[in-house]
Amino acid sequence: MTVVGTEFTAGLKGFRCTLRRTDGVVVRLPVRRWHAPARGADRWMLTRCAGPTLDLGCGPGRLVTALAERGLPTLGVDISPEAVHRTLSRGGMALHRDALTRLPGEGRWRHVLLADGNIGIGGDPVRLLSRVADLLEPGGTALAELSSNGGLWRGGARLESPDSVSPWFPWAQVDLRSIPTIAAAAGFTVRSVRRGLRAFAELQLPSDRISPRDRLVPWSDPADRKW
Ligand SMILES: C[S@@+](CC[C@H](N)C(=O)[O-])C[C@H]1O[C@@H](n2cnc3c(N)ncnc32)[C@H](O)[C@@H]1O
Repeated sequence: MTVVGTEFTAGLKGFRCTLRRTDGVVVRLPVRRWHAPARGADRWMLTRCAGPTLDLGCGPGRLVTALAERGLPTLGVDISPEAVHRTLSRGGMALHRDALTRLPGEGRWRHVLLADGNIGIGGDPVRLLSRVADLLEPGGTALAELSSNGGLWRGGARLESPDSVSPWFPWAQVDLRSIPTIAAAAGFTVRSVRRGLRAFAELQLPSDRISPRDRLVPWSDPADRKW
């Protein structure tokens, strides 16, 4: 896995940024929203959280702090030290970690957030959602902010600000039409969606899914073994 550590730094410091993709598409990033308090369509995700929540790629932590203020155990995870620092200084809990590596509470989280296109992390949405499935408890939900259209795209991207250009990193885009197939490949069903300028999907695991922490190899007493 390519380590993405500082690619988003310009935006996380509050500079105006665009995301340039290898297919030539340039997307303006909502940097001001990352730094503002949670509001507007953010509420669609927030109101669907009712238990311990992990925010993957939390950025400056507006969703982490909004959930913590509601009394929910919430942890942000971000590969960027700048994001973690900003979340902590806002009063949220955050861990400096790659979302695709081992994380605390595997198989125990009730919700995982993938806000602002973070389903693109790592450039392989099925792999990322499979990882999210292992973080969640059975019946848990992933709340993903998607693209309203444009289909599924996977490739390279880089951040461009007036003063800096990041290295290329793997990224992906998933829209409302492509999410059912991708969700199914990772073991989720689509429970609800929000259409509009900001599009979201609520993905749910089956409540009888065996979580990784319960996938124990049967233990046998060495005394019973017939060598
Ligand atoms: C588009 S920003 C979204 C910020 C935040 N979710 C929000 O809505 O305000 C993407 C964030 O994901 C982080 N990120 C990218 N790749 C990551 C990875 N592999 N593991 C953890 N965080 C990652 C970036 O550092 C950045 O803070």
